[in-house]
Amino acid sequence: MEPFVFFGGKGGVGKTTVSCAYALRCAHDGQRTLVVSTDPAHSVTDVFDQPFDDSPQPVAGIDGLDAMEIDPEDEVTRHLDEIRQDLSEQVSASMVNEINRQLEMSHGTPGAYESALFDRFVDVMRNSEPYDRVIFDTSPTGSTLRLLGLPDLLEGWIDRLMHKRRTSIDLFEKAAVGNNEPRRVMEGDPVLARLQQRKEFFEFAGSALHDDAAFFLVLNPDELSLNETDRAIDDLREKDLAVRGLVANKLTPSPDPDENGRGARYLRERVETETERLETIRSEFEPPLVAEIGWRSSEVKGNLLADVADELDIETASEPPTHV
Ligand SMILES: Nc1ncnc2c1ncn2[C@@H]1O[C@H](COP(=O)(O)OP(=O)(O)OP(=O)(O)O)[C@@H](O)[C@H]1O
Ligand SMILES: [Mg+2]
Repeated sequence: MEPFVFFGGKGGVGKTTVSCAYALRCAHDGQRTLVVSTDPAHSVTDVFDQPFDDSPQPVAGIDGLDAMEIDPEDEVTRHLDEIRQDLSEQVSASMVNEINRQLEMSHGTPGAYESALFDRFVDVMRNSEPYDRVIFDTSPTGSTLRLLGLPDLLEGWIDRLMHKRRTSIDLFEKAAVGNNEPRRVMEGDPVLARLQQRKEFFEFAGSALHDDAAFFLVLNPDELSLNETDRAIDDLREKDLAVRGLVANKLTPSPDPDENGRGARYLRERVETETERLETIRSEFEPPLVAEIGWRSSEVKGNLLADVADELDIETASEPPTHV
């Protein structure tokens, strides 16, 4: 199994639960494991009953398992601050106000969260050497995956920029009679350095996701979740990323055969419908169903988490990453 494992899926299906259960399994099997969560609402903090922040901390009582929690809001702010800092060093003071105004607006633009989170995920992958396995609670969505197309785009852009820059340096040199003009030099040009850095970042992201990552989708046995899963499989496939397996969670438990009350009849009908849906998944979806997890009567944490972990038919042995 690849060192980076992503669990995606619609809101509330059980991504955090399944990520933590799988992380527990990996740690029990002797893998140095990190689980990365991004949802401050219900997150690793709730599952392990221990506060986490955006730097990895050991999970109490579980050897070999660290967890961290990334707050998307903080991430967007940090991301925009970085851009602001970068630009203010490179443009005239009169433009700084305008840039600040534009950045304030981009705070709420669609994709700002996803793009900031994606950056952070890639950062975690780049700094993953203390771990055999890093588990991401949430896989990249269609719009973040589009970012992976950027290196090609940037390459052409950088080439054109370099050309313009060279021409402009040439002109400056010709105009700089008696060394009155500050000389511009290609070497160490901050704009080009930044672009080059971005390009390498996306190149790393692309190869890490293609060669060192496995994607799983968590779903519930309802139509909405099935449709969403179908779309997500396509989204990933479009970027040449195959979904390794599907995790069906929150399956209705069967009543005992001798129970015939209203509740039991209701459960039996639900089980029947869900069984048909699971059949559809097996016959029509390409990725295999790797787990069928029953609906527990309470939140999945503590011993229940170990129970759920046992139901995952996902191997844990890890290969070292090829790109880190
Ligand atoms: N098999 C299960 N049995 C009972 N409760 C479950 C099960 N799986 C998950 N839950 C509960 O359902 C809720 C949502 O699960 P979880 O937070 O793992 O979903 P999620 O996909 O991460 O949600 P979000 O999209 O909000 O991040 C939690 O309260 C969790 O404890
Ligand atoms: Mg979650």
